[in-house]
Amino acid sequence: MTGIFQLLILVSATLASEPSCPACSKYDYEEKVLERMIRMEFAFEKVMNENKAVSKTVEQDLTCIKEENERLHATVDALKDQQEQAERRLISLMYEVEKNQSSALENVVTEANNTLKQISAAFNDIKDQVIIPAVYFHARSPPTRSLSTGEVIVYSTVETNQGNGYSATTGKFTAPTRGLYLLVTHTCTPPNKYSLLQIVKEGSVLIASNRYDAAYGCLSSQVFVQLDAGESVWIQCSSGGSNTQLFENSSYWTSFGGALIHN
Ligand SMILES: *[C@@H]1O[C@H](CO)[C@@H](O)[C@H](O)[C@H]1NC(C)=O
Ligand SMILES: *[C@@H]1O[C@H](CO)[C@@H](O)[C@H](O)[C@H]1NC(C)=O
Ligand SMILES: *[C@@H]1O[C@H](CO)[C@@H](O)[C@H](O)[C@H]1NC(C)=O
Repeated sequence: MTGIFQLLILVSATLASEPSCPACSKYDYEEKVLERMIRMEFAFEKVMNENKAVSKTVEQDLTCIKEENERLHATVDALKDQQEQAERRLISLMYEVEKNQSSALENVVTEANNTLKQISAAFNDIKDQVIIPAVYFHARSPPTRSLSTGEVIVYSTVETNQGNGYSATTGKFTAPTRGLYLLVTHTCTPPNKYSLLQIVKEGSVLIASNRYDAAYGCLSSQVFVQLDAGESVWIQCSSGGSNTQLFENSSYWTSFGGALIHN
């Protein structure tokens, strides 16, 4: 573009200096025109050469820019690949961490659960050993006052019977649970009468008592006994007859009682 512009200026400058002298010879004129044309041709060729050089430089620059552009594109693509790889690695790592955490948590929960189960079982064992079930009874006032040998005394008024071990029908206490029991009996007699009583476990005498006095009075017997569940104890007259008799009023009670004190 610049080359064409320069050419136009040159042409116009050449034409502007055209001689208008009518006195000049035709030959002289033609020679001058030819000379100018040759000069123009030289100038034109120079401009063309310059243009060619400029074009070449521009072409070279363009090639450089194109190559640079391609290089940059390649670099950007490589960076993009690297970034994608890094993202993929990060995501899989995050997934693994999450998985590890949840499996670690699961292990902790399972372990805690197992520990809890063990503690619970141990606690139940200890509870069975430590807790003593409530078993106790107290009955009084046998309806029969005269006693015969071998008679089991039935205390018909039941004050308390926790665990339902005592029977007011048979007068016997049957252990509802295995353990160590304390048994007590309290017996009152009128003046000059005997009472010969025994605390008996399944036919075996645990303790025997004999009360006789000229006045009203009472006597207590106690015994510790280990009973299995289902074993029975009772109060029995070891020797009856007309000289044996029980006494009772509202403050002198004849009674039989007991309690489970250890299991
Ligand atoms: C996940 O757990 C495995 C096995 O315990 C271990 O090798 C790995 O390094 C853990 N991964 C992470 C990300 O913590
Ligand atoms: C923990 O134990 C209980 C009872 O044995 C069970 O029902 C529950 O599913 C357990 N929990 C886990 C997380 O294992
Ligand atoms: C019970 O009998 C005894 C002996 O006879 C007597 O001392 C006592 O006052 C009597 N008690 C009642 C409440 O009757």
